[in-house]
Amino acid sequence: MAGSGVFAEIRDGDGVFRYYSDGEWKASASGKSVPIINPTTRSTHFKVQACTQEEVNKIIESAKAAQKLWAKTPLWKRAELLHRAAAILKEHKAPIAECLVKEIAKPAKDAVTEVVRSGDLISYCAEEGVRILGEGKFLVSDSFPGNERTKYCLTSKIPLGVVLAIPPFNYPVNLAVSKIAPALIAGNSIVLKPPTQGAVAALHMVHCFHLAGFPRGLISCVTGKGSEIGDFLTMHPGISCISFTGGDTGVAISKKAGMIPLQMELGGKDACIILEDADVDLAAANVVKGGFSYSGQRCTAVKVVLVMESVADKLVEKVNAKVQKLTVGAPEDDCDITPVVTESSANFIEGLVMDAKQKGATFCQEYRREGNLIWPLLLDHVQPDMRIAWEEPFGPVLPVIRINSVEEGIHHCNASNFGLQGCVFTRDINKAILISDAMETGTVQINSAPARGPDHFPFQGLKDSGIGSQGITNSISMMTKIKTTVINLPAPSYTMG
Ligand code: G3P
Repeated sequence: MAGSGVFAEIRDGDGVFRYYSDGEWKASASGKSVPIINPTTRSTHFKVQACTQEEVNKIIESAKAAQKLWAKTPLWKRAELLHRAAAILKEHKAPIAECLVKEIAKPAKDAVTEVVRSGDLISYCAEEGVRILGEGKFLVSDSFPGNERTKYCLTSKIPLGVVLAIPPFNYPVNLAVSKIAPALIAGNSIVLKPPTQGAVAALHMVHCFHLAGFPRGLISCVTGKGSEIGDFLTMHPGISCISFTGGDTGVAISKKAGMIPLQMELGGKDACIILEDADVDLAAANVVKGGFSYSGQRCTAVKVVLVMESVADKLVEKVNAKVQKLTVGAPEDDCDITPVVTESSANFIEGLVMDAKQKGATFCQEYRREGNLIWPLLLDHVQPDMRIAWEEPFGPVLPVIRINSVEEGIHHCNASNFGLQGCVFTRDINKAILISDAMETGTVQINSAPARGPDHFPFQGLKDSGIGSQGITNSISMMTKIKTTVINLPAPSYTMG
């Protein structure tokens, strides 16, 4: 059970979950807490500490001190500890998954998958770090005009310092470890600010790192109100890098952060282009999986279907048949469609749906909502003047726009301010490649729905979808800087012969 057994110390006597600072679980001096509302019951399920700016200062001070020693810890030892944390995390997948069910209404099986996937990510990160951080470059000077071979240049990758990780509510464990593990293997320390919904799952995950035996202060986790500690953290001079996944807040962070590397993933409006020659069964299955998994609350969800008019009726019919079979209800029952994360999210989704209704979209199902639970809805004949054609619902409602040419589909995709992923369904691989090249998105999937994983694949968004590239290798590199040492010789030195 959450907060019991090996996790007992992360909760105080009043049942409020503690924050993690300098290797210890602590109650905030504020004496205040932040409630976490269960999306299903819409009542308070957990409480976390409302930390103060003073507590953030202390955390960053110890993170700076711990990082200096950690950078001197051999790479293989860093990897060993990460492997240990991964094993502990997997061993305790049940209570962590339980938190995900209660805090973010993630279907029970998906919640377990998130934890296991996170353990795998940590292990892969440890292995990749050992490989790529152990290598550098050797350059000689006479390849540049005007130089003799009098200089040998050695490059290596060194840590940045203190990395601030801010994951989103939809993967509070996986998108936390996708920042924590690369940061640690590269020799950085980490300050984690989890999302409010998902904070308790994240605290349990952090405790697995604690149990693994990482040095004091190297990892900390601060909870609280964004209004109190949000800007304070992101603008703190002790922070050397920010890795953020979420929504518009990322734009504000990028404007306020100083001269530090940023890794940002800020959502998408992933288009699914379906051509006349597509395998319509395959496309329909992927539209449903891509559009409705975790009730559409994924950055990489299919968020607009752009289907050629000639196959549109067939596709819509097949998608509707599958939507009909989706189970709707509680995450504990492992339903496909579960309540969306907050009431304000549900209201926002409803706003998009009502706008489309008013402007003449065809509703393939009756619109139905109870509290935060919204039944899956396919909206056909969506037009570009409807908000849902462009905005990201982050919910189980999916617009279909019928197109008359491939160019029309590409144009709609590229007119979006987002550019995370997209997908194309066709049996013609040559056409698929041309379309992929034309789509202004960080990734294009051919004959499958958008997805971030496998987690070692590069993952990046263009335009408002983000800054930088993620994926294990890219994240490790992004959390390092290049250091060069140049050996200057008194006379040119050439190889034998
Ligand atoms: O932020 C990325 C996340 O929303 C999508 O990840 O694994 O569901 O494709 P995934």
